[in-house]
Amino acid sequence: MVTCLVSRRRVLDLGVGAAATAMISEGAEAAAGATAGAQPGDALVTVGDAAHKPLTPGAVRRGAPPRLTWPMDPKTGLVRSGAKFNQVLLLRLMGDRDEAHGGPLVAFSAVCTHAGCIVSAWRAADRLLLCPCHGSQYDPARAAAVVAGPAPLPLPNLPLAVVDGRVTVAGAFSAPPGGHTGRTD
Ligand code: FES
Repeated sequence: MVTCLVSRRRVLDLGVGAAATAMISEGAEAAAGATAGAQPGDALVTVGDAAHKPLTPGAVRRGAPPRLTWPMDPKTGLVRSGAKFNQVLLLRLMGDRDEAHGGPLVAFSAVCTHAGCIVSAWRAADRLLLCPCHGSQYDPARAAAVVAGPAPLPLPNLPLAVVDGRVTVAGAFSAPPGGHTGRTD
């Protein structure tokens, strides 16, 4: 009987062990997914939006300041907020005067190419993206070219598409986010 008891306990231990291993594995996968950069097919959600509502084209209006966003896997709802290098600036260009709703949506890495701060400010008068750390300025209408400050490179562009009514990542960044700073998240 003791043998039987030990055997049953071992079976239980093995069962608990397997479940724990599966949970650890799932946790590791989720952590990896959260730190992975934007993937094709990802939706974009506003940083700080606890509801994680995918952004639609209509939510990004002409003349509005850029939105700071995270990519999100639309199938699992996993927000890729585990690495600051994943943050994306989303805005609508002004477009021509006869384009009532504005120009195209564009997205750029939000990581300054100087020293890796988040480009979190916006100068509405001349529609420039500003880095608060050392004053670099980027022009989104000119592919986020550097127009002032010490940043050595433009902000990498993230291709977009509209899929099922949502703003969706359509490809990889045009260059590694953070420029020469490398990933130091
Ligand atoms: S980190 Fe942005 S200007 Fe220095």
